[in-house]
Amino acid sequence: MEKREIPFSPPDITDLEIAEVIRALKSGWITTGPRTKQFEKKIAEYCGTGRAAAMNSATACLEAVLRLLDVGGEDEVITSAYTYTATASPVCHVGARLVLVDVAKDGYEMDYDALEQAITEKTKVIIPVDLGGVLCDYERIFEIVERKRPLFRPANKLQEAIGRVVVLADSAHAFGAKKLIRGKWEMCGSIADFTSFSFHAVKNLTTAEGGAVTWKGIRGIGDDWIYRQFMLLSLHGQSKDALAKSRLGAWEYDIVFPGYKWNMTDIMAAIGLKQLERYPRILKKRKRIIERYDKAFLPLGIRILEHYGRGKMSSGHLYLIRVPGIDETVRNEMLCRLAEQGIVSNVHYKPLPMMAAYKKLGFDMKDYPNAYRQYMNEITLPLHTCLKEEDVKYITAKVTETIKEYGESGDEV
Ligand SMILES: Cc1ncc(COP(=O)(O)O)c(C=O)c1O
Repeated sequence: MEKREIPFSPPDITDLEIAEVIRALKSGWITTGPRTKQFEKKIAEYCGTGRAAAMNSATACLEAVLRLLDVGGEDEVITSAYTYTATASPVCHVGARLVLVDVAKDGYEMDYDALEQAITEKTKVIIPVDLGGVLCDYERIFEIVERKRPLFRPANKLQEAIGRVVVLADSAHAFGAKKLIRGKWEMCGSIADFTSFSFHAVKNLTTAEGGAVTWKGIRGIGDDWIYRQFMLLSLHGQSKDALAKSRLGAWEYDIVFPGYKWNMTDIMAAIGLKQLERYPRILKKRKRIIERYDKAFLPLGIRILEHYGRGKMSSGHLYLIRVPGIDETVRNEMLCRLAEQGIVSNVHYKPLPMMAAYKKLGFDMKDYPNAYRQYMNEITLPLHTCLKEEDVKYITAKVTETIKEYGESGDEV
């Protein structure tokens, strides 16, 4: 087979996005403006929520939710040890105490029993991570936070209105995923209390950098009020954005608090609007590739992240495999072998307690044995909509060869 060069996750940009960016550039309005507002409207429609707020990253969206809830100081926020730093760093930014929970044995989701045990009177938020686009067990998570309602100590009006630990989904990977809940398909974005999406360059739907937050209606708190807070949080705490200020005689504004600068631009939104139009086809293509991979790799006895089961439909963002009988060193050799053959693969994730920053915070990998077992033999294969039929054939052939070469000798995982 002739060698091919296959990148891990290039952006899938067509003439549609390019033409819309040119229109935005020529329109005379390139920062937050009509296209961003339109993009927000379309995201809310797609997710089935009242509103959505776009920002310049999912990291900003996660932090904005914590700041909206006024979480910090003595408060505790729980998330998974098996994630990217962006899930956890906003907790550090707001000064709250980060609590990391191990994943369940042989799984990528938090161990829900351990999660329940980790909830204290100080817990304000749980951040489940929809790894690879596969939605967590939100029914179970909501059962847990409902059971723990008596422990919850609200510190402000918003926390009081919610009345229990807040579920903030890190759905950076999961835009477009859905789940059958009580007989109804619920879209990611309308399941957790708040949901944060990423539109970073490698994501299924990209705006180069970017993110959006959606939320479920909260009794006694208007969606418009929440949206307004997100706008303040993402633009200096400034009472008017540039578009509002540009209207006749409307220059004057106030700074309500010294906020951050997280706004999305109309150039980014121009890309996003066209990506969104193409998104149903993008999701279908991802599903077809995943089905091809499953067919090729499952007979080899490897473990995969299951994307499509009864009652669940992932966004098909990442294709994770675990190779039986190998350790971290062999896994890394396999990645090199694939790279030599032109296939760029990756690892999702090196658990946070293995990273210097989180070690310094006192986390110890010994406390996360399940996360380590998931990580040590995990490989993420290229999965994107620029893959051609010959690429998929090439990847399945070369990965099969490599698994056969390295994967058979060791002990059972
Ligand atoms: C699980 C997870 N959460 C959050 C983020 C942050 O996304 P962004 O780069 O848009 O801030 C990422 C980015 O890759 C991610 O993988």
